[in-house]
Amino acid sequence: MKVISFVIELLAILGFNTAQTSGLGRPPLQSRQQACNGNAAFCDRPYSNVSLIGTHDSAFVGSIVDPRVNQEKSVPTQLDAGIRFLQSQTHTINNGAQLEMCHTTCTELDAGSFQNYSSTIKTWLDDSPDDVITLLIVNGDNVDVSMFDAVFSSTGLKQYAFVPSTSPNQLAINDWPTYAQMITANTRLVVFIDSKANQNIVPYILDEFTYFFETPYDTTDPNFAECTLDRPAGGSAAGRMYIVNHFLDASLFGILFPNDAADYTTNAATGSGSIGAQAQLCESDYQRPPNVVLVDMFDRGDVFAAQDALNGV
Ligand SMILES: *[C@@H]1O[C@H](CO)[C@@H](O)[C@H](O)[C@H]1NC(C)=O
Ligand SMILES: *[C@@H]1O[C@H](CO)[C@@H](O)[C@H](O)[C@H]1NC(C)=O
Repeated sequence: MKVISFVIELLAILGFNTAQTSGLGRPPLQSRQQACNGNAAFCDRPYSNVSLIGTHDSAFVGSIVDPRVNQEKSVPTQLDAGIRFLQSQTHTINNGAQLEMCHTTCTELDAGSFQNYSSTIKTWLDDSPDDVITLLIVNGDNVDVSMFDAVFSSTGLKQYAFVPSTSPNQLAINDWPTYAQMITANTRLVVFIDSKANQNIVPYILDEFTYFFETPYDTTDPNFAECTLDRPAGGSAAGRMYIVNHFLDASLFGILFPNDAADYTTNAATGSGSIGAQAQLCESDYQRPPNVVLVDMFDRGDVFAAQDALNGV
């Protein structure tokens, strides 16, 4: 989009009437379709066929020395940098009346309201008409999905929500629309929740484990030498997209915290313990690359090079 508007400005400076671009021998500007999540190569690919780097605990932002946080750049900065999959965790305050972005408990870390988190994403989507974002919410207190719906409604984020054509039933892995179709329909927000989804009542908040499986989290092996299906327990890989938990923990007196000292190698594109190395292992297990690789401190290492490699672009 930025490149296109630059070209339009340039043409205007050069005296072209940019309102009639067809006069320049190319179709009228339908720039919306020309870049999907920043790359035209994604436009014709179904949602289920694209690999994304996701920010683990996207809302828990702070200093690298703070063991309670997982990212050092804010959510808008994550999105501006190119992150299109945000994982987050919510709990409640005010006797269960309000959803907050809290880490394990709101006493440990309260990173603001879910309302503010949603508004931030709404604003970003308003300004980014060629982009599709996915939210994965950990519903830490197992609250009714209608609480999330209320916030998505009040912030206006709901207007962008994608509802599967098969709703309330599962959309098969091969039946997802392409990015171009989602952008054209302006349904550019895909929402998953790990518990309490009820697509009969809230059709756009999708059940995570119907659609995905996950590898183990809280790994302390710096080599990430496996790609096992951890959840849903007893589930199968067939027919599910998958999420690889590629963030490293350290353990001190049995307490796990992010091993940020290792982030540059953990988040490298290639090499021992890198995103690329674990993804290769996953591909040999499942004959397809991960749909999502969740990382801590996404700005360390080379996550977008890794993402491009997963997508073959
Ligand atoms: C996307 O499709 C290509 C071509 O069929 C396939 O090789 C690749 O494994 C798919 N990727 C994902 C994430 O499904
Ligand atoms: C709302 O979210 C923005 C963006 O992440 C953040 O900078 C701001 O501090 C938050 N405000 C409140 C009141 O939590």
